[in-house]
Parts: sequence; structure tokens; C-alpha cells
Amino acid sequence: MADWSGMTVVCMASGPSLTPADAELVRQWRQAADDRRVVVTNNTYQLAPWADVLYAMDRKWWEVMRPQFTGERLTAVHDVPGVPCSSSPKGGNSGSGAVLLAAHRGAAKIIMLGYDCQVGAGGARHWHGDHKKPLGNAVSLPKFYGQFRADARRITGVEVVNCSRATALDMYPLGILEDELGQSSGAQAEHCYWRSNIELDHLTPRGKRFPEIGLFEALREACAGSVFEVGCGDGRLSPAFDPAAYVGMDVNPAALAKARRNNPLHQYVEEWQQANTVLAYTVLLHVPDAKLPAMIKQLKKYPRIVIGEIMGRRWRKPGIPPVFNRERAEYEALLGPVSQVIRVPYPHYSTHLELCVWH
Ligand SMILES: C[S@@+](CC[C@H](N)C(=O)[O-])C[C@H]1O[C@@H](n2cnc3c(N)ncnc32)[C@H](O)[C@@H]1O
Repeated sequence: MADWSGMTVVCMASGPSLTPADAELVRQWRQAADDRRVVVTNNTYQLAPWADVLYAMDRKWWEVMRPQFTGERLTAVHDVPGVPCSSSPKGGNSGSGAVLLAAHRGAAKIIMLGYDCQVGAGGARHWHGDHKKPLGNAVSLPKFYGQFRADARRITGVEVVNCSRATALDMYPLGILEDELGQSSGAQAEHCYWRSNIELDHLTPRGKRFPEIGLFEALREACAGSVFEVGCGDGRLSPAFDPAAYVGMDVNPAALAKARRNNPLHQYVEEWQQANTVLAYTVLLHVPDAKLPAMIKQLKKYPRIVIGEIMGRRWRKPGIPPVFNRERAEYEALLGPVSQVIRVPYPHYSTHLELCVWH
């Protein structure tokens, strides 16, 4: 058995969020040093034919696909001609088997990529579209969460980071691929904090859940038509809106899971969606100045923009997370003159918060 002691191993599964650009990042990382390995599952060998191992647990997949792959080939059964059965613990699915293989071979760190374990945009189940018959398409998807949770209890002494761009898994810390591969400029650190904030710290204000006075009424006055709330956290504000005309989005899958439990009739997604109004309530103050232009570019795609936060640079402070409050004029410099400002009393800080509307 190959010895991967102390190595970092990237496991790439076939979820819909995996992209050729991510595979290219991993290829460059793998080529840069020898104490690294890459395991791909199923059709993902097509994005990474240079991977070290192709792992696919399903006999039928090998029979149908007959992959041209020159690296090591492994399966989880004993009756695939020419493909050895791995001595590592068998996972519930190929993705989990790949992680167990890396742990079994002694990896010090495992980076997961393409482990969406959920359906993507347009019902996609894989990055490569649907398999043709007789292959199934992630038919055991509902079982994946439980299988990965069981694996997580078995894997000890290994650092596992899930860098999938979209994921339903929350048993491992979430990371940013560029950070974990050491190819980040550090500009994504904030994003990383919020994404991996499994404890859901700082989502809701200190003290009372609603220290703002008359917030729901003010939100309804500021927003019009369908509402897309970016940075919805645990869905604290969703009940202010008709579930049929509201979609919440957040970078933190754990927060979205809680939002769905809190407000079962409202919809939550991980990607931007179009709507009449985009609402960013106490979100932009968490976006560092260098990252703000990209966020503003997204907001400008909506006919009505509502930004809610305590305005003024004097409120800025370092810490975890740091806050980057801005003057209202700074947002106006980027978005044009504000159309309406609704003041929401915030007695906890002896001040008020501003709901600024552009339309
Ligand atoms: C202070 S919480 C506010 C949550 C919610 N708006 C509320 O008032 O209850 C900030 C939220 O913004 C999210 N967030 C931070 N950066 C984000 C980004 N770039 N895109 C989307 N959400 C982001 C965080 O995950 C967090 O849930």
C-alpha cells in the first residue's frame, strides 16, 4: 500500500460546483511538490487526467465508462477486471471512499473539492451533466450527509477541510481552496471567516435578537416587489417578507441550514438570484474595502438596492470579525445619490441604523 504519511491530499468529487478552473489550480499545486497527492472520483478523472488515483466504487461505472486513466485505479468491490479493490475502509459513496482512502494511507491533511452533496443550479447533480443510462445520477444523494457524518467519526488525527464551492456538508470546517493551496493573496480571509463560521457567531446582534426598534416595518417600507436578501444569516429578517416573494442567500451553509429550520416556508440559496430588490442588512460592514467594488457590482444588477447598517467610520473596529462601517457618502459615491433613508432606532448603541434605498 502506498504510504502518504504527512502528505496533503486533495480529493475531488463530481459535484456540480466543480469547475475546470479549480481543477487547474489543483494541477498547478500538485506539480509544485512531491509530498502531495490528488484522488479523483468517477468522471472527474476527465477534468484531472493527471491525478494520482482514480477511485470509483461502482462496478457498473467501470464497465460502462472504461476510462483511459494512466494513474492508479481503485474500486471498492472485488469483481472489476483489472481494477484492484482498495484495502481502505469502504465509504457509502465514491466521494466518501476517496476521503477514507487518503486517511487510510496516512495523509496529514485532506482537502475536499466538488463535494456538493446537494443538487446545483437547474437540478444539476454533477459538473459533467447527467450520466447516460444504465448509470444512475447520485441516486443516493439523500443518504450522503449521514454517510459523511459517520466517516467523520471514524477519521481521527487528520485535518480535513471542505473547500467545495457549494456544499451541504457541515461536519468538517469549510475553507477557501486558494487559501488551503497556499495560492491566496489573503484578500479572501473575511469570506473564509464567514463561510467557516459553523458556530454561527456574530450572526445576530449582541444581546437581544432584535435590538432594532420597528425593524420589520422599516424593511417592508424600504423593499418593493420580490426581495433577494444577501447575507441572510440564520433567516432572522425573513419573517418580515412574504415567503412567495423572498429568497435569502448566504456564504455560510450552516447559517442557511438554520434559516431553513427557522423559516420552512421561505427559500434559501447559495448563489445570487435576480429579484426586484436586493437587501444587504448588516453585511457590507463585514466586507473589507478591497472587496467592496465586487460586491457593489453585484448589487447594481438589481432595480432596487437596500443597504442597512450603522453608518460612519467612527464605528470601525478591528477584531474577529473586524467591522468596516462606512459613511453613507461612500456608498453614494459608488451607487449614486440615495433615493430614501429610513432611520431605525438602535438603542443598544444609543444610535440609529440607516436603511438606504436606491431605485
Ligand atoms: C451580521 S450577519 C447579518 C445576518 C442578517 N442580515 C441579520 O441581520 O440577521 C452577516 C451575514 O453576512 C454573511 N456574509 C458575509 N460576507 C458575505 C458575502 N460576501 N456574501 C454573502 N453573505 C455574506 C455572513 O455569513 C453573515 O451571515
